Parts: sequence; C-alpha cells; structure tokens
Amino acid sequence: MLLDKDILDEKNKCLHKPSEDVTFPMDEKDLKMIDDMIEHLTLSQIPEEAEKYDLRPGMGLAAIQVGIPKRYFVVVYEVNEGEFENYILVNPKIVSASNEMIYVEEGEGCLSVNRPTEGIVPRHARITMEGYDTEGNKVRYRVREDLAIAFQHEYDHLNGILFTDKIDNRNKDKYRAI
Ligand code: NI
Repeated sequence: MLLDKDILDEKNKCLHKPSEDVTFPMDEKDLKMIDDMIEHLTLSQIPEEAEKYDLRPGMGLAAIQVGIPKRYFVVVYEVNEGEFENYILVNPKIVSASNEMIYVEEGEGCLSVNRPTEGIVPRHARITMEGYDTEGNKVRYRVREDLAIAFQHEYDHLNGILFTDKIDNRNKDKYRAI
C-alpha cells in the first residue's frame, strides 16, 4: 500500500513541472497506482486506519505526487461518515467555471506540503470538468463547494502548481461565498 513516505514533498522539482497527457490503453502500472491512491485516501479519512498506518488525512492525490508525471488524479470524498465517493479524472479539462469564488476558511492542505501554511486560495465555487475514465470513456462532472475546490487543487498539480503558489490574502472578503 501507499504510505505517506511514498508521497513527494513540495521540495521535489517534479511537483513544479507540468505532467504529460495519458495515452490509452493505460499502463497496468498506472491502473494499479490509481487503486493504491484511492485506498490511501480512503484509509487516511478513517481515523482508526489513519492512526494505524500513520496517514495524514487527504481527499485528493495527483499522479505526480507519487512521482508519475502523467495527467490523472483521484479524489475520495466522504459523503456521509464512512461512506466515500471516488472520482478518477484522466486528462481532465475545466470546461466551465462560476464567477463566484470561494475558499477554504482554514486554508487548503496538500499531502505534499508538510509544513504549516497561512492564507487562502480563491477557487471557483462551481466547475464542470471533462476528462476520461481509466478505460478512455469520456466523463463529465459538475461539482460545487468542497468537491469543486478539490478538483481545482488536483488539476493544478497536473500543471505543476501547488496551492502555496496561489495563496492570496488581499481582501479575503471579496472571495467569500454569500
Ligand atoms: Ni495537493
């Protein structure tokens, strides 16, 4: 299984470079990695499991965070306690985004950023993302709030951008969702 030590730290140069498009059929190695990433994120959000394996809770991972410079990411979202929805996006594109901006009040987190950070990242409150599943079928997700933030955060990883590159504390109120 994937442990915290397998996830690259922000100091690693790879995390700051854009990843390459995936070609289909996907490599076995990537399919296995997607399963491992989902397992890791799921366990990390279950307190007993997180403690057992010493995992920091996280809801998203991009391939580059485990050293694979390919354009895919996964998000594991806890809809209800202990109930998770998995999202896999390969070669994703943002096809529409709301004008309304929101941000995570306490600041975003990232499994590649192992230090306290201060500041917020303005994100679109709603986005539509298109991409492919692991078999190359087109997928399209319209997401809002927490999921929209997670998708934009992970999408940025594919372009070599970390949330710390986007921190903006000027006039927070202008980003506040009403
Ligand atoms: Ni991240």
